[in-house]
Amino acid sequence: MSRRPAGAPEADANAARGGETDAAQDEETGGAPDERPRDSRRVFFALWPDDATRTRLARATKEAVRRSGGRPIAKDRWHVTVAFLGGLTPAGLEIASGVPPIAVGPFALTLDVIGAFDSTLWLGARSVPKPLMELESRLWHVLEANGFVHEPRIYRPHVTLARRARAVDVEVDPVEWPVAELALVESLPAGRNVYYEVLQTWSL
Ligand code: 2AM
Repeated sequence: MSRRPAGAPEADANAARGGETDAAQDEETGGAPDERPRDSRRVFFALWPDDATRTRLARATKEAVRRSGGRPIAKDRWHVTVAFLGGLTPAGLEIASGVPPIAVGPFALTLDVIGAFDSTLWLGARSVPKPLMELESRLWHVLEANGFVHEPRIYRPHVTLARRARAVDVEVDPVEWPVAELALVESLPAGRNVYYEVLQTWSL
């Protein structure tokens, strides 16, 4: 297989743009994706919580989000990104979706700390489980072997809760999230919002 597949150059370009995220588009409410041809697919690998975990996350973070004064991200969009790939061609998407499964085994992710960075309020983990670090590094190892480019930054798993937020000093009740799957998710424009669609999942 070629070291630089059709999807990779666009992933490079996306990484190079760096600051361009979904930030400007996120809002409280979700919505249906716009109807348009999908020649560039903006995708990422993520941990995707089930409804029960989302409810517990909402309860634990409500006060922090309120105090931050930020624009909340709708609960149905919460996730932990494992690998952001950016805009891919259909061929690139096919290569990326051929990378899992990565069998690190199911694990518990305890989210227990609120932080803020660049006006983004997030919920993270004081202690990141080893299987999650292993998942991220094994996934990128294979992606890189297929020509995808990994931004050189330390992996800090988090759920983004609000944008345009102030830092807050709030203790959260820890939420234990039983993680058993890796998801491939597409970010679709939906008016001024984004809509996330889970394309595929794999057991860990
Ligand atoms: P964030 O929540 O911290 O912004 C979809 O955009 C997901 O991919 C988000 O969880 C986002 O993280 C993450 N992501 C990581 N790197 C990104 C980048 N360069 N551009 C956009 N999103 C990125």
